[in-house]
Formats: sequence, structure tokens, C-alpha cells
Amino acid sequence: MAKIAVLGHGVVGSGTVEVLEKSKQSLEKKAGQPLEVKYILDLRDFPDSPYKEKFTKDYGVIVNDPEIDIVTEVMGGLHPAYDYVKAALLAGKSVVTSNKELVAAKGAELLAIAREKNVNFFFEASVGGGIPIIRPLHQCLSADKIMGIAGILNGTTNYILTKMIRDNMPFDTALSTAQQLGYAERDPSADIEGTDACRKICILASLAFGKHVYPDSVHTEGITAVTPEDVEYCENFGGSIKLIGWAQRLDNGKIAVMVCPAFIAGESQLAGVNDVFNAIMVRGDTTGDVVFYGKGAGKLPTAGAVVADIVIAAKSHSSSRTLFWEDSEDQDFVEKPENIVCRHYLRLSGVTKEQAEQTFGNVKYLVRASAPEDELAFITEELSEKECADKCAALSGSTLANIRVLDY
Ligand code: HSE
Repeated sequence: MAKIAVLGHGVVGSGTVEVLEKSKQSLEKKAGQPLEVKYILDLRDFPDSPYKEKFTKDYGVIVNDPEIDIVTEVMGGLHPAYDYVKAALLAGKSVVTSNKELVAAKGAELLAIAREKNVNFFFEASVGGGIPIIRPLHQCLSADKIMGIAGILNGTTNYILTKMIRDNMPFDTALSTAQQLGYAERDPSADIEGTDACRKICILASLAFGKHVYPDSVHTEGITAVTPEDVEYCENFGGSIKLIGWAQRLDNGKIAVMVCPAFIAGESQLAGVNDVFNAIMVRGDTTGDVVFYGKGAGKLPTAGAVVADIVIAAKSHSSSRTLFWEDSEDQDFVEKPENIVCRHYLRLSGVTKEQAEQTFGNVKYLVRASAPEDELAFITEELSEKECADKCAALSGSTLANIRVLDY
């Protein structure tokens, strides 16, 4: 018998209890033992809940109960989630979490405690919602040296971009629909400013490259500066604009990590990923490109990933010692953003073709209907962030848009 506590009864927490109850029989068969939710922690009251007997507001009851084997943290946020998770691991309980903020900020430390205490710390639901990615990256692709990862990692922004592009829906309407559907973070600026995608690419990069990549080391841009004009030029380019979190092994031994809106060519598997769907492309030196696709947010998809972790934690309570990465206070292995190289889409005003070619050399021009006469849009060859910024600054006109072009 595995006894479980679920911390948080919000969207994912209530979904987790629902899935555990709904599929109890088959889950217990897979876990090889009965599974029982003994406690649900939440500060709110749920007098009409069928599980009302299980609610507690006191975490001490849970962490001090020797019967509890698995603590499931689905509260989100750093505090008190970090304190609760750390205390659970130190008390010899396995932890399952969907909390990307927690794993991105404290993953190395919590994995080390789990290893020391010989218990599990699982976080499949922290990246990609219902998409299996942590375990495939850690186990199924273990023959590969991971060369790069690029993903549409935020369902809310992908939903907003899709609605804006396909249905001409205004940004605010698309965002409030995403909120109503339970996709968005409590503070949706974490979605639209790219912070949520940043946390997720940090988790994937830490796992793939073996050292903790902290969000502060990652240049992060959201989708708020993407305009309908850029969308039109991207159509002429033959692709789609997507918010991409990416990490790539470089020849100098470092890794480049960034979150930014990007032009993605139409033939890329990422280009056709729409609505709340996420997709993560993993580039291995042996397997080549593998793409993981599915619902990246929402109650039941995310709860499904949490419950799968619970089943695996119940089957083997002792530490998965290889699901691990080193801590690294020194982030020198992460390339400085100004040195990161890629092609850029630039939209400029008050710049002639001659001036553009003198400054940028070989460029590929883009067109759109009803562009003002003094607007110029083109794709550069590969340039570092610094080279691109310096060249734009040297021009007499103004830069209206600078969006990376990624080859994934
Ligand atoms: N706000 C997140 C998203 C939820 O939209 O992807 C899933 O992590």
C-alpha cells in the first residue's frame, strides 16, 4: 500500500485526485499495490468535496505521518512549496511535483537530498504538461549525446499566437480565454514574458547537459512585442512565429540557451504545432531528431503526468540515482547571450536596400501587402546577438523588429 498526500487542490491538484480515483483499479495494477490518497493540503475549505475528510491545513500532520510514502506537490510557486518538498525528502518520503519554478530554481539541491535519503524526486509534469519528456530524455535517449533541444514549451502563448494568427483574435481576448481554460499561470505575465518557458528549458537543459542551468543565465523574451506585421512577413518567409525555448551544445564546449519568439520554417515539425499543444524536438547524435508532441497545459493532461510519476514512485520507493544533475554556482558553461549566433529577421524603417546590404551583406528580402514605403524586412546570415545589435545601431533608421530565425 502506498499512501499519498497531495499538496494543493487547484487545477492540477484536483485533477490528480480525480485521475487517481477514476482509474484506481488499473493504476493499482500498474503500481502493484493499493494507492490511497490519505491527505489533501489546502488553505481553502471544500465543504462539498467528496474528499472532504482528507483535507488538512496543517503540513506538519503530513510530514510527521510515517504512513505517508509519497508527497505530491502541485501548489506551484517557490514558497512554501520548496520548504514542504525539502522537508518531505528529508523525512524520507518520495516527492512528485509539477512545479517548474521549484525544479528550475532548486532542482539540483532537491535531487541531491533525494539521492542522500534514497527516495525519489520526480517532476515529469513540470515540462510539457501531459507529454512524456523527462523520462524519455533521461532513459530512452540515454545512448545519445544530446546536441540540442528546441521546444514550444508554453501552452498559453502558443494558444494566444494561434488565435491571433488564425482567427485575428485580439491578444487580450486570447489571453483571457487561455486563463478560463486553466492554461495560464496565476500571474500570466510568467507565460507571456517567457519566464515559464525559461524555467522549462532550464530543466531540460540541466537534465540533458548534466549541470544546473539557472533561469538568470538565460536570455528570455516573450511574445508581447510580436506584431501582425511580423506575422505577415513570417508567412512570406514560409513559416510560423513560435515562442521557442532552446538549448544547444556548442563547439567551444559551452551551451547556448535562450527563450525567444522565432521564425520557424514551414517544413519544421514545430511549425504546425498549434493551440495549447506543446512540442519538444530533441536532437541526439545517435538517434537524430525526435519530437514529443501533446497537450502542454490543462487539468487532466498535467494530472496524468503527475499520476504516472506517483505510480512509478510507488513501484520503486528507492532513489532513481541516475535522474540527477550537478549543481553549478558557476554558470560559465552557459554561453553569454551576446555571443549566441543565429540568423535574424529584421524589420527596419528609414533604411534603403543599399544601406542594409552594406551593413549586413547577403540578405533575403521579405514582402507584405500594404507595407509603408520606408519599411524594409529581411533575413540576415548568421550573426551573434552583439553583431546584430551593433549593426542595427549603426544604421540611420530604426529597428522595428528583431526576431531570431531558428533551424529546428
Ligand atoms: N502556464 C503553463 C502553460 C502551464 O501555459 O504552458 C503548464 O506548465
